[in-house]
Amino acid sequence: MNWSVAHIPDQAGRIALVTGASGGVGRETARVLAARGAHVVLACRNAERGRAVASWIGGSTEVLELDLASLDSVRRAAGRVRDRHGRLDLLVNNAAVMLPPHRHTHDGFEVHLGVNHLGHFALTGLLLDLMTGVAGSRVVTVSSLAHRVGLGSFSTDRARSASGAAAAPVTAYGRSKLANLLFARQLQHRLAAAGAATVSIAAHPGLSPTGLWHGDFPAALRPVVTAGLRWLAQPADAAALPSLRAATDPQVPGGAYLGPARRFESRGAPVPASSSRVSRDRAAQVRLWDLSEELTGVRYAFPAAPATAGPPAQVCPVTGRTGRTP
Ligand SMILES: NC(=O)c1ccc[n+]([C@@H]2O[C@H](COP(=O)([O-])OP(=O)(O)OC[C@H]3O[C@@H](n4cnc5c(N)ncnc54)[C@H](OP(=O)(O)O)[C@@H]3O)[C@@H](O)[C@H]2O)c1
Repeated sequence: MNWSVAHIPDQAGRIALVTGASGGVGRETARVLAARGAHVVLACRNAERGRAVASWIGGSTEVLELDLASLDSVRRAAGRVRDRHGRLDLLVNNAAVMLPPHRHTHDGFEVHLGVNHLGHFALTGLLLDLMTGVAGSRVVTVSSLAHRVGLGSFSTDRARSASGAAAAPVTAYGRSKLANLLFARQLQHRLAAAGAATVSIAAHPGLSPTGLWHGDFPAALRPVVTAGLRWLAQPADAAALPSLRAATDPQVPGGAYLGPARRFESRGAPVPASSSRVSRDRAAQVRLWDLSEELTGVRYAFPAAPATAGPPAQVCPVTGRTGRTP
């Protein structure tokens, strides 16, 4: 049976923060979580847009100003969450840019890596201690089919230079989405090693005709994009299902990666997704982690590992696999 919103358990009493909740997939994710009873923090760079979404969604929500292109803004936003809430059940790292007009973040990072990965890396690190003791808590990080075109390694030079992005903007977006996946998996390893109550899960929405596609595409690519979206895309409410399943399905284990089932994973019900070999490379995950700590200045504090070994490995009911997260 296809997983749908009808499978979402009651979310009453849970506090969820969704980045990029002002439109597209994030707005749908926030809408459904609120409809299921969660208190949803709509983290948006444009507070006015966030308030409009809040009144459209109804339920229990609040708007949090968050510009992932500014580490100062990320720190302020994390501080506000800390002041208002003693804990966090769900963090959905959803916001992203693709080929925006500006090339750098306020901190001088290449804009795709800066907003899509480094901003979320910093936000998660600053909020994680509100989650690690909370049973059932989850960090969901939204990646993309485009992680496969994220070629080239991560380095300080590349993170600070926009020249690579200007020459190959789609690759720069893809690299940021590869970073999302490397991060989500390495986070899961570290959470599991520390015996934390939180798990890290990744998801991708397939393709959806959201604001993401209003970016500054090279003219030669536009007809391909239009035709591709017409054939492959699904509406934002369907595109939000992988994130929603990752956030709420108790059967989904830490380290999983979910995406749509059909048409090359572009649309359909959320199921375990495929991913590139490099996204599963443990050494690449660690290198990106170290670089991200250095660039953002946010160093993760994990709870001390428990003295006893964790529970034995179990067969995952979703993937059917036994064993460790790659
Ligand atoms: N749509 C697709 O086909 C597709 C395919 C693969 C993966 N994805 C992934 O799905 C996720 C959601 O994308 P979407 O399709 O819903 O795109 P979208 O409609 O463009 O929404 C992106 C959201 O991110 C927010 N955002 C952008 N820059 C930000 C910043 N500096 N700080 C805080 N928020 C910022 C936007 O806020 P504003 O309203 O202020 O612009 C918006 O709310 C992204 O991670 C994307 O990579 C989408």
